[in-house]
Amino acid sequence: IGKMADVETIIEGVQSVLSPKDLVGEHVLITAGPTREPIDPVRFISNRSSGKMGYELARVARRRGAAVTLISGPTSLQVPFGVSVVRVETAAEMYGAVMDHVGLSSIAIMAAAVADFCPAEQKMLKAEKEDISMLRLDRTPDILAGIGALERKPFVVGFAAETGARLDRAERKMIAKGADMIVFNDVLQDGAGFETDTNVVTIISRGKDGVHQKEFLPLMSKEAVASAIFDSIVSHKE
Ligand code: PMT
Repeated sequence: IGKMADVETIIEGVQSVLSPKDLVGEHVLITAGPTREPIDPVRFISNRSSGKMGYELARVARRRGAAVTLISGPTSLQVPFGVSVVRVETAAEMYGAVMDHVGLSSIAIMAAAVADFCPAEQKMLKAEKEDISMLRLDRTPDILAGIGALERKPFVVGFAAETGARLDRAERKMIAKGADMIVFNDVLQDGAGFETDTNVVTIISRGKDGVHQKEFLPLMSKEAVASAIFDSIVSHKE
């Protein structure tokens, strides 16, 4: 009974005590990580997402007093203390899990790298090489657009993973998908995007008169990026 808690738990406890509790009463739904779209029992289509960005968002939200539900694709990360997690594999499973939880959420942040396409046919046995030289692909469900189209929806934050300074594409995604905010990152930029412990983002917030506000953040840890995103949400959310 007298055994001391491990250092990680103690540090998390101290961080939590020192964090502002400005998210008390909020229920934050976060997606993180890649999805895996099976070709056959052996092969799948996926991407380079490690889940770090989404897991840091979950950690920071819980520290600031929110109830947090993390819907996670396959990652090797430890679930942050006090966060409830739903594990999924495919975009379709992620879509279902998000729709199951979004009704109770006041904030939804879609940080996951959801595959845009899945094999039109999933083979039950390992496919012959010649059978997969040409793969027919179907579109996967667009989760962010699905939330954006809801009658009653939470404050919705999307992410935009682009190659190059394509803020225009991020803005168009925010409008097209009905999001309140979108976080742009150029995954080719040093220290930004997939697998890194850092990111370089621009937070774009939808303006009332169609003029959107942009916050350009320098290279920083994904934990600091998560804090900045919640600072922005708190200041923009009614
Ligand atoms: O996980 P890390 O290794 O830390 O990497 C972090 C990250 C690069 C994955 C993250 O910062 C990021 O950019 N996440 C979004 C990746 C992505 O899919 O971006 P996109 O521009 O393709 O998608 C736009 C938005 O639509 C995203 O919010 C995405 O979650 C969402 N989407 C996309 C496809 C789909 N079928 N459904 C969706 O909801």
